[in-house]
Amino acid sequence: MRQLRHLFDNNRAWVEQMLAKDATFFERLAEGQFPEILWIGCSDSRVPANQIVGLLPGELFVHRNVANLFVHTDLNCLSVLQYAVDVLQVKHVIVCGHYRCGGLLAVLRNDRMGLIDHWLQHAVDVREKHRDLLESVADADLKANIFCELNVIEQVDNLCTTNIVKDAWSRGQQTALHGWIYDIKDGLLRDLDVCLTGEDDIAARCEAAVARIAESAAAVTPAE
Ligand code: CO
Repeated sequence: MRQLRHLFDNNRAWVEQMLAKDATFFERLAEGQFPEILWIGCSDSRVPANQIVGLLPGELFVHRNVANLFVHTDLNCLSVLQYAVDVLQVKHVIVCGHYRCGGLLAVLRNDRMGLIDHWLQHAVDVREKHRDLLESVADADLKANIFCELNVIEQVDNLCTTNIVKDAWSRGQQTALHGWIYDIKDGLLRDLDVCLTGEDDIAARCEAAVARIAESAAAVTPAE
């Protein structure tokens, strides 16, 4: 007997719903994909990329991994980026983190979970880089939120240093990089305002974004 029957039922219902709105929807998708946005997000089941930004199949090229990390030695995410930028010619690359990220919470708690600890070591590096800022925040929830935001900024920074993005910019391709964060608690997205469109001022813009995060942390953390 086929398992997960309800998923096939859901699929049939979804196809009917889509066809009722647009009879040629799937025929057009079959012709090819022309998404303008690459989404790099977390694998977390609570952060489904297309749904939270209201985009249809064909409109978002997606890469997800635990803790939305963009790692220079990860052939998987490098391949996604290269295909998205060079072949699909996406206009936007969004790194979207989220609050209450299990991977990042584990890093803050120094949990040991097995193989995944090796992957999360990249987030440990982010934690260590911003150790002073994180240690200045007493409230555990706020510290975790700030860590999630800092991690997004660092991944945007990692994107900038790839030859894929550098080459796109140097040949005049319009490719904007963005850092966003999603709040599972209310379903809302927030722009961390680290939009990068060229090689100028990358470090300064990332530093400014980190400074804004530090300011917002200081605003709710009483001075010692
Ligand atoms: Co996550």
